[in-house]
Amino acid sequence: MPNVLLAGGAGYIGSHTAVELLESGYDVIVADNYSNSCPESIKRVEKITGKSVKSYEVDVKDVEKLSVIFEENKIDAVIHFAGLKAVGESVEKPVLYYRNNIDTTLALLECMKKYDVKNIIFSSSATVYGEENPVPYTEEMKRGTCTNPYGWTKVMMEQIFEDAAKADNEMSVVLLRYFNPIGAHESGLIGEDPQGIPNNLMPYVAQVAVGRRDHLTIFGNDYPTPDGTCRRDYIHVVDLAKGHVKAIDYVLKHKGVEVFNLGTGTPYSVTEIVETFQKANGITIKYEYGARRAGDLPESYANADKALKVLGWKTEKNLEDMCRDLWRWQSKNPMGYKG
Ligand code: NAD
Ligand code: UFG
Repeated sequence: MPNVLLAGGAGYIGSHTAVELLESGYDVIVADNYSNSCPESIKRVEKITGKSVKSYEVDVKDVEKLSVIFEENKIDAVIHFAGLKAVGESVEKPVLYYRNNIDTTLALLECMKKYDVKNIIFSSSATVYGEENPVPYTEEMKRGTCTNPYGWTKVMMEQIFEDAAKADNEMSVVLLRYFNPIGAHESGLIGEDPQGIPNNLMPYVAQVAVGRRDHLTIFGNDYPTPDGTCRRDYIHVVDLAKGHVKAIDYVLKHKGVEVFNLGTGTPYSVTEIVETFQKANGITIKYEYGARRAGDLPESYANADKALKVLGWKTEKNLEDMCRDLWRWQSKNPMGYKG
């Protein structure tokens, strides 16, 4: 079976994707510097699947060290998850974000060229649709104007992949634009483990539920949406991971660049999701409404038709599943992988 290199594979989405690839018969190699993860997640992947994972502790920006992986293994395809992803931090530290996210991409492309690896999947984001495009987003819309450096790195990296593929007609690139991945593997063994105060909604909710935070502040209830709070396309991380298996099958058979939205196509508001979490788990979440957060769009959700038509992929899990699985992970691992 093909060998897939997961750059950033110890992280939240990478570890769930590793499970789905292994369970579909692929071999998996992980390259990660653990800047936002830890080796324990790989051990848990091995526990869930009963299969072993070869892993390298490496900064993916470092072409020389990255080359060792390509030298020692025959890689059939790469999935590039290795990036920094905190929107607010990217505003404070733009150079760090541009350096890390762009250089990891360039280093991977350089090694792929040197070792004649032609297939790559990139973790892009709905954020590339920017401020101008109307919802629901479709893949052929032009990339828009982002509100932060993190988003711009995704826009730039998509462009880099398009240019690389234009110059080499043997290349096969799939750009996956994720919407809002939440939840955890149903075993409760792997999940999202943010360092410090969570930036994203669901990890924050889970930490309130487990007693690590006092209450949730909902950022703004005066948006032009049905209940005044922002609406997002939340997708179960296991559905998202399964989308990568379909995308690997696709990238190995095709040439050129293809873009897919990975979302459910259905938006839920912040208030709806907090209420669903409470109901699904029988837990009360203390929350209050506060000021809007800078840079938030009122709505972001996918038109998910293309992934169904071309990849034969659609989401299978609902919002209750996402909330239940998130709570199973958080309650079994109140301090994340540390305990
Ligand atoms: P994550 O932080 O859990 O995983 C990223 C992994 O990359 C981490 O294990 C981190 O240690 C590693 N990494 C970062 N820089 C590295 C480097 N220079 N060398 C080696 N490893 C490095 O994040 P995630 O949620 O799993 O996201 C994976 C990818 O998907 C990221 O590119 C992110 O931007 C993108 N994405 C995530 C979301 C989301 O909401 N989680 C949404 C859209 C896109
Ligand atoms: N929110 C709160 N309180 C919180 C945290 C979030 O009310 O404590 C709200 C936000 O204001 C927003 C919604 O919950 O309305 C979702 O916020 P997240 O931070 O969870 O997600 P975003 O949609 O802002 O951003 C996510 C990823 C980005 C990615 C973007 C588009 O974090 O990386 O989706 O894909 F770019």
